[in-house]
Amino acid sequence: MFKVRLNTALNPFCLLLFFSALSPFRSEAQSVVIPIETQNNALVFQADANKDLLTIYFGKKLANNSEYLHVPAIYKQTSDYSGILNSAYAPSGSKNLAEPAITVTHADGNNSLDLKYVSHALKQIDNNVSLLSIVLKDPVYDFSVTLFYKTYFKEDVVEQWSSIQHREKGNVTLHKYASANLYLKSSGYWLNQFYGDWAKEMQPEESKLTRGIKTLDSKLGTRANLFQPPVFMVSLGKPATEDEGTVLFGSLEWSGNFRTDLEVDYQENLRIVSGINNYASTYTLKSNETFVTPVFLHTLSTDGKGVASRNLQRWARNYKLLDGKGQRLTLLNNWEATYFDFNESKLAGLLKDTKKLGVDLFLLDDGWFANKYPRNGDVAGLGDWQENKEKLPNGISSLVKEAQNNQVKFGIWIEPEMVNPKSELYEKHPDWVVKQPKRDEHYFRNQLVLDLTNPNVQDFVYNVVDGLFTKNPELAYIKWDCNSIIYNAHSATIKNQNHFYIEYVKGLYKVLERIRAKYPTVPMMLCSGGGGRVDYAALQYFTEFWPSDNTDPLERIFMQWEYSYFYPAIATANHVTDWGKQPIKFRTDVAMMGKLGFDIVVSHLNANDLKYCQDAIKNYNSLKEIIWQGNQYRLSNPKESNVAAMLYLDENKSSGVIFNYLVNYRYGANSSLPIRLKGLDPAKKYKIREINLYPGTESSIKGETTFSGDFLMKIGFNPDVNSSRTSVILKIEALN
Ligand code: DGJ
Repeated sequence: MFKVRLNTALNPFCLLLFFSALSPFRSEAQSVVIPIETQNNALVFQADANKDLLTIYFGKKLANNSEYLHVPAIYKQTSDYSGILNSAYAPSGSKNLAEPAITVTHADGNNSLDLKYVSHALKQIDNNVSLLSIVLKDPVYDFSVTLFYKTYFKEDVVEQWSSIQHREKGNVTLHKYASANLYLKSSGYWLNQFYGDWAKEMQPEESKLTRGIKTLDSKLGTRANLFQPPVFMVSLGKPATEDEGTVLFGSLEWSGNFRTDLEVDYQENLRIVSGINNYASTYTLKSNETFVTPVFLHTLSTDGKGVASRNLQRWARNYKLLDGKGQRLTLLNNWEATYFDFNESKLAGLLKDTKKLGVDLFLLDDGWFANKYPRNGDVAGLGDWQENKEKLPNGISSLVKEAQNNQVKFGIWIEPEMVNPKSELYEKHPDWVVKQPKRDEHYFRNQLVLDLTNPNVQDFVYNVVDGLFTKNPELAYIKWDCNSIIYNAHSATIKNQNHFYIEYVKGLYKVLERIRAKYPTVPMMLCSGGGGRVDYAALQYFTEFWPSDNTDPLERIFMQWEYSYFYPAIATANHVTDWGKQPIKFRTDVAMMGKLGFDIVVSHLNANDLKYCQDAIKNYNSLKEIIWQGNQYRLSNPKESNVAAMLYLDENKSSGVIFNYLVNYRYGANSSLPIRLKGLDPAKKYKIREINLYPGTESSIKGETTFSGDFLMKIGFNPDVNSSRTSVILKIEALN
């Protein structure tokens, strides 16, 4: 099996040249057709007689790939005056009339760019992954762009990016430098985008794209997702549902400013141009220097959103997320239990509670550091990473030992990219802070961002982490927070301020690279005052992310639902807290849908609540492989029904768990209709029984009947959710 297939029966690894004799539609000169095929899809380019590289097809793949050449002539749309509306990477300043992928000013001051096909090469990385590169060059200037397409055949996932280089006499200014320029044809396009704010992350919004450009972007510099994450979906022809319709999922793998333009052009085709946001970021490219853009990721499904999300989740676990196939630790976090108010003896009690609860690790949150300006609130101390002597006279190491005495692991919170102005770090290094030298400082959560473009700051941040591990080799977990966005973007040391936003993110990645080189697999949570920073570039360094500070389980059902389209459950850290009005069973059941943690005062639980949690953790441990590695099927959408239902099913279709919740609290709301299961083997016989029962309660589901997969997928199963059974977890198991 190979991923990029080229059009020849003789040699699949060489380029097929379609000569005029083979093409009824092109009688002029020879043209080159480059189909990039995955299991179900094809993205097909053609270098035409003018050597313009054009997208001639993007959709379900054809049985016979020599027919792609016939696609363009089948469409009878209005004229494409420029001839490059479907450019694979639209230049500007020459013929192009649409939103460009790239805009430059050459060394001689000229603003025009034309990119012609030169060559392409295919590298087979393994039996599933291939890398295709296509070289384009300006015929007038010594300026070239290489387009890269990394394809994951089985998952139908494509990662694409570009590298830009020149050998002109002097610098070239890049005004725009996209990662990807897609081109799709359909009768209409529906964009599903997401917006958010603190505690309101991943709110979906769907609208029909009309002619013109819709831009999804961030200019926040860091924790760039706060108001708008980079992930989006576009349905073609009609809004896709869970199991029907054609839908493209896309996202930029970049932890800073991003920009995605979706342009319905004058021919009514959709052009998607995505990359680093060029806002305040014109890039000066020296001669012989190469600018490599971040990766743009996409997957196309012709069978609805469910397939796209399962493909993306599988791809993430197999290829992208750090330790995606590995283990995770359940934990007790003290943030909401103590906030900044703790000392050694309080923590000793919490360590005992960690053991009592039955989770793997205790996570010490914010407030453990700083002495001159103690971190007793969020107004001071950030940046001074020495243990606070009053709270922790014996240091972190004694806590790590105490954790060992309790047979649990120990993890710690840091926010190493940020600083409170009221800190020794700020006093010592005012030039390490991102700020405008002549303007007032402006704070976000009373703090500023450290200038990660500065190598000294990179060393400092690295040493915060390395120092903790060196002093405490048994440290088992890091929660890496990042609360502030960037105001007054300016570095005291960088020469070209236009490079600031880009260099900030590159500086962050340099630090993370160094950390991962020394500590390859230690679990780290990507946290950002809630879900302000999650993308697939960052997730190469992190084992999980914190979707939101909003842990009200009712809210979480909706939020986790939306996140699950793009990120696997193993990466989604969910904590049981005191947010919301739901009972402990409901809160715990919802948190079990990802990577489970607790942030409660265990000693405040009554005997039944405690027993419930302890048993639920045992159940979680027996189910976690299915939740983390199984296929996720959305069964009943909380936005459309009284009941939310989600199934996690193992690869063999023999063991699964179904989470069901009441999401409408009006009188009489219940699961009046059976909920159809998905993904089962129709021929297999299944038994369904309820688990996670609250002490002293009995299930209304007797679990005696055996159902075929056929029955469960056509008729369904009723979890009997109602106002006295608001959260129902079902275990489904095949008998044969
Ligand atoms: C924001 C995080 O989202 C919280 O979980 C907590 O760690 C606080 N920061 C600590 O300041």
